[in-house]
Amino acid sequence: MPSLELSSLERTEAFGIILGEIVEPGDVITLEGPLGAGKTALTQAIARGLGVDPRIYVTSPTFSLLHEYQGRIPLYHMDLYRLSGEDEIESLGFSEYFYSDGLTVIEWPERLGSLMPPERLHVALAISGETSRTANLTGHGNLWQKKVADIVSIV
Ligand SMILES: Nc1ncnc2c1ncn2[C@@H]1O[C@H](COP(=O)(O)OP(=O)(O)OP(=O)(O)O)[C@@H](O)[C@H]1O
Ligand SMILES: [Mg+2]
Repeated sequence: MPSLELSSLERTEAFGIILGEIVEPGDVITLEGPLGAGKTALTQAIARGLGVDPRIYVTSPTFSLLHEYQGRIPLYHMDLYRLSGEDEIESLGFSEYFYSDGLTVIEWPERLGSLMPPERLHVALAISGETSRTANLTGHGNLWQKKVADIVSIV
């Protein structure tokens, strides 16, 4: 599994900007990792890479569950931490955002259960020090499997 050493917040930002620059409409990125791992920090950088106005601050949608931003393509940022599981997620209609006109970034994707989109980039973040994180990348589906190697080589 390709892994990236994100030795500082700046490295995480550089990684996120690259992701934001290469994604296409319909892409899904799932972000796994404990509280404070940097899932929202990475999403902020993805928003920059997508060209979301830098004056717009990307915050964790923990209470509102879903935030939408306008960049080169729309960014749908979900935080499923407070949701009980797939029934609740289904009734909120969240799966309609997958493979739509924008990029969907999902924090706490474990909650999705069988709604987990099969084609996606999965990033597992682990805390390796006060300001360092390790990112393990898994491409699910043919397209992402090919892209993961490219991403790791350019970050
Ligand atoms: N290399 C790094 N990469 C990402 N974040 C870092 C790094 N070093 C330090 N940090 C800090 O770690 C914190 C990560 O918080 P963030 O809200 O992004 O976590 P999260 O994974 O979204 O947590 P939650 O599950 O609560 O939503 C931020 O305060 C950020 O500045
Ligand atoms: Mg968060």
